[in-house]
Amino acid sequence: MSTLKLAVLSGDGIGPEVTQEALKVLDVLAQETDFSFETEHADFGGAAIDSSNNPFPDSCERLVKASDAVLLGAVGGPKWDELTGAMRPERGLLSLRGSLEVYANLRPARFFDSLCGASPLRPDLTSDVDFVTVRELIGGIYFGEPRGIVETDTGRVGSNTMIYHEDEIRRIGRVAFETAMGREKKLLSVDKANVLEVQRLWREVMTDLSKEYPEVELSHMYVDNCAMQMVTNPAQFDVLVTGNIFGDILSDASAALTGSLGMLPSASLGDGPGIYEPVHGTAPDIAGQGKANPLATILSVSMLLTHSAQRPDLGCLVDDAVEAVLAQGLRTGDIASGEEHERMVGTEEMGAAVGHQVKTLTGSRKECA
Ligand code: IPM
Ligand code: MG
Repeated sequence: MSTLKLAVLSGDGIGPEVTQEALKVLDVLAQETDFSFETEHADFGGAAIDSSNNPFPDSCERLVKASDAVLLGAVGGPKWDELTGAMRPERGLLSLRGSLEVYANLRPARFFDSLCGASPLRPDLTSDVDFVTVRELIGGIYFGEPRGIVETDTGRVGSNTMIYHEDEIRRIGRVAFETAMGREKKLLSVDKANVLEVQRLWREVMTDLSKEYPEVELSHMYVDNCAMQMVTNPAQFDVLVTGNIFGDILSDASAALTGSLGMLPSASLGDGPGIYEPVHGTAPDIAGQGKANPLATILSVSMLLTHSAQRPDLGCLVDDAVEAVLAQGLRTGDIASGEEHERMVGTEEMGAAVGHQVKTLTGSRKECA
């Protein structure tokens, strides 16, 4: 197997701390198995604004385009909050996604038994939660033109455009149907077709596409209803497919269900290199203190192994290692619920514990379920 070229953009806030732990887990795999990788780091987001006055410098773009996969921490923070438009760290993230054309963003919300105390919902509602949100990532209102704020005679007017070409809907739909084929074969398309024309088109295209996947049971739900059902009956979902902004909002809610935003990984996929990043942000309040939860980033590395390295066996192994560490009672602050068997740890100790488990599991040649 060839060496995976990994571009590491650790970004701002807790980004560098959590990516460092995820890389250590990859190091263990490289020592213990035939998997090999090499890394190259670049400034991105606020860090790149500081070093080169651009959140997504050309050198960074060249690096990611020449890589097999990108591991990303998080971007943004109070230091850059006053900046506007293209200078914002978040705009760098959107440009990166656009540049690599990663149109499909997979955000799996999986419930770990040992975290039942950390979820704000009752255990009977969350114990069977295991679904994936497939979010369209490079279209819709995030990228639509025209956009902006203009001065008018009566005051300023701000606008954005929610727009989808049917081909964009079809290509994200295909990823969602394929994802459902590999799971319970239940796909829920989430839209606002009762109010917005662009969303009516979304529903029509999804319905049309379902003819190609007769085995998948497709249903539709309005986004407001979906937000409600996510907190009243989240176990009903298998695969959700939705547009960019609805996916952004619903996936944060899906993460909270399972205990913490610090647990939600993501993979952003297109036809070239994939981007793997935790869904949480830069958490400026705890940055640099060694308190951040590295598990979402470690679980993103698991997705990287599955999707970019074509090593689902190793991805599964990392998932199992995370599960084992949680079962041992190790907790960062965000997933602690005060139960007796829990032991509070920092970022490094959590990362090292997962690395240790990965080593144990590779040693015992554990087969993945
Ligand atoms: C996410 C984030 C980003 C988004 C921001 C930081 C631009 O919230 O990945 O969910 O809205 O896509
Ligand atoms: Mg978000």
